Amino acid sequence: MNRLEGKTALITGAARGIGLAFAKAYVAEGARVALADIDIARAQDAALEIGTSAMAVEMNVTDQQSIDEAIARTASRFGSIDVLINNAAIFTAAPITEIDRSDYQRVFDINVAGTLFTLQAVARHMIEHQVKGRIINMASQAGRRGEPLVAVYCASKAAVISLTQSAGLNLIAQGINVNAIAPGVVDGEHWDGVDAFFAKHEGKEPGQKKREVAAAVPYGRMGRAEDLTGMAVFLASDDAKYIVAQTYNVDGGNWMS
Ligand SMILES: NC(=O)c1ccc[n+]([C@@H]2O[C@H](COP(=O)([O-])OP(=O)(O)OC[C@H]3O[C@@H](n4cnc5c(N)ncnc54)[C@H](O)[C@@H]3O)[C@@H](O)[C@H]2O)c1
Repeated sequence: MNRLEGKTALITGAARGIGLAFAKAYVAEGARVALADIDIARAQDAALEIGTSAMAVEMNVTDQQSIDEAIARTASRFGSIDVLINNAAIFTAAPITEIDRSDYQRVFDINVAGTLFTLQAVARHMIEHQVKGRIINMASQAGRRGEPLVAVYCASKAAVISLTQSAGLNLIAQGINVNAIAPGVVDGEHWDGVDAFFAKHEGKEPGQKKREVAAAVPYGRMGRAEDLTGMAVFLASDDAKYIVAQTYNVDGGNWMS
């Protein structure tokens, strides 16, 4: 299929995991993709593996100059940006009584400010180049409700859902659609870290938390990064042009809203 033929996409946090799966799916649909990540060595390996429709670009979403340079480098190699996926994020967890202010700040800098100011910079770029673009933010089921040990990450993803609504309503006037995807539990390195946290804080065996969350998914297993690519392609395609400011759950039935 060539649903994204001729499009240029910038995907943050694309060196691994869900962002990398998005990059591969977009290239398979005819797009050119910049894999933007703070881990440039891994992004370079991934881009090489994908081929000439992919490039790696170093980007730290907490640094405005880095954001602006990544946009400029992407546009100079592949042309103006049609699609942004705001995917870079970090996870943190702690009981309320042990939340550390610097950890809170780091998570909000990356997950919330990183999303907002990357979105802002790409929206300015799209407006300047008269691109009727698409912006997809990565939220989470964690943004739909709190969890006893995951207050900061949950709050950061609730903020992403809210930003998606406000930015979606504001930018549609310029023909830019902003929407979000809320995954459930997706196996990979991110969840290796989550599992290790729960092993430490709840005395679980390594792998036990993953087995528990997998058993609770109505679909019957944890998600895989590839389970999310259909929604990411759809939201960037012409078929999604009337969809504005929405957050879609792609979670095997974990959450309904
Ligand atoms: N895995 C899940 O179960 C799950 C569930 C819900 C939502 N999500 C969300 O989906 C997205 C991708 O998740 P994942 O599981 O692939 O995560 P991951 O941890 O495997 O990958 C995140 C990527 O972001 C990059 N990154 C971190 N800080 C950065 C920064 N400051 N600037 C640029 N890049 C940075 C990392 O180097 C890494 O390549 C995230 O937004 C995550 O919150 C994941």
